[in-house]
Amino acid sequence: MHTEHFSVETRAVHAGRADLAELGVHVPPIDLSSTYPLPDVEAGGAAYEGLAGGHRPGEGTTHVYQRLWNPTVARFEDALADLEGAEAAVAFASGMAALSATLLSCVSAGRPHVVAVRPLYGGSDHLLSTGLLGTTVTWVAADGIAEALTDRTGLVVVETPANPTLDLLDLRAIADQAGDVPVLVDNTFATPVLQRPLEHGASIVLHSVTKFLAGHGDVLGGVVATSEELATRIRPIRAITGGTLHPLSAYLAHRGLQTLPVRVRAQQEGAQVVAGWLAGQPTVQKVHYPGAAGGDPLGLVGTQMAGPGALLAVDLGSYERAAAVASRVRLFTHAVSLGGVDSLLQHPAALTHRPVADGAKPGQGVLRMSIGLESPEDLLADLEQALSP
Ligand SMILES: Cc1ncc(COP(=O)(O)O)c(C=O)c1O
Repeated sequence: MHTEHFSVETRAVHAGRADLAELGVHVPPIDLSSTYPLPDVEAGGAAYEGLAGGHRPGEGTTHVYQRLWNPTVARFEDALADLEGAEAAVAFASGMAALSATLLSCVSAGRPHVVAVRPLYGGSDHLLSTGLLGTTVTWVAADGIAEALTDRTGLVVVETPANPTLDLLDLRAIADQAGDVPVLVDNTFATPVLQRPLEHGASIVLHSVTKFLAGHGDVLGGVVATSEELATRIRPIRAITGGTLHPLSAYLAHRGLQTLPVRVRAQQEGAQVVAGWLAGQPTVQKVHYPGAAGGDPLGLVGTQMAGPGALLAVDLGSYERAAAVASRVRLFTHAVSLGGVDSLLQHPAALTHRPVADGAKPGQGVLRMSIGLESPEDLLADLEQALSP
C-alpha cells in the first residue's frame, strides 16, 4: 500500500500493516523464534550471506537466526520508516545501541571523525567524548560545522530540540554545511509527528524508541531511519554486535506508533499550559521551551517543526531549589526518561547529563520535565505545592 498521500494520523495507524487482511489477522503476529528452519544447507547459506551483508530477506527465504532478521521487528521498522519518510529503518535494543552501530559503521568505512553540536543527550555526549568505539569528535557551534570537516569525517551529529535545554537547530543550514557527510539528527524529542529531518537535508534520523514512539514506559529500544544504502551498511553491524530489538518490544513500539500523533499533540497542549504557568512564577528564573518567549530565536516552530513539543526545562537558580522540587513532586514522577503518557521530571546535571564535561553540563538549577496526558490543571497544582518555599 502506498501511504505517501495519507496524513501522519492515517499512516501512524496503518503503517507496517498492509498485509494483515491477507494473513487473516487484525493485529500483527508476534514471531518469537530465535532460530528458523533451513530448507537445505545451500539455501540456508545463501540466506545467511544476504542477511549478514545487510540485505532484506528474499521472498519466502529463511530468516536463519533472530539476530539477522525478525519479521515483527521488520514491521516496526517499515512503519517507522514510513512515518519518517525514509527508505528503511533499522531497530535496536536501545537508542544507545542504534547510535553505537551508526558510529561503528563510520569507523569501519575508515571515516571515524565525528563533528557534533552540543547539547546532546548525556549518554550520546559521553559515547562521543570517550571515543570508546574508535571515533574522534570535534565539538562545534552550529555554524562551525563546515570548518571542522576533514576527509576522515564520517558523520555530523545533532539533536533538535536538544536534550535537556530544548535548543533548536536549523537543519537545512546544517545539512548545507555538511555537504556530502551524512547528518544524523536525534529526533527523539520531536518525533516524526512534529519534525521529519530527512525533509530538511538530514541523512539519518535516530530515535530512542523508549520515549514517545513506544510511549508507555515499558519498552527499551532504538531505531535509525535512513536510505536503503546506509541501512545496508548498518544492519551487518547490528548482526555482528548483537544489539537487536526484542520482537515483543517491537510489537509494543509498533502499537505505540498508532497513537503517536494524538499523544504527541495532547502532551504538547499540556506542555504549553505548564510552560506558560511556569513563566509567571517568581521562583522560576527561566523556562526553556520552544514555545516560550525567546525559545525559538530562528523561527523554526511552524516551519521545520509543526509545534513546540511536550518537553520543557526550568531553571530554578540553584541545585538546592531544583533538588527540593524534584523531591516534593507527587503527581509527576521523579525519574529519568521521557515521552510516556505520565509526566516525569529529573535533574539533568545529576542524572541524564552526569557524564558530560563540566563546561558543557546543564546548569545545576535546571530541571527537565516531560509532560504526559494528565490534566494540566492537576500538574500545575502539583508544581505549585512543589515550588512553594
Ligand atoms: C534524546 C535522546 N537520545 C538518545 C537516548 C538514548 O536512548 P536509550 O535510553 O533508549 O538508549 C536518549 C535517552 O534518554 C535521549 O533522551
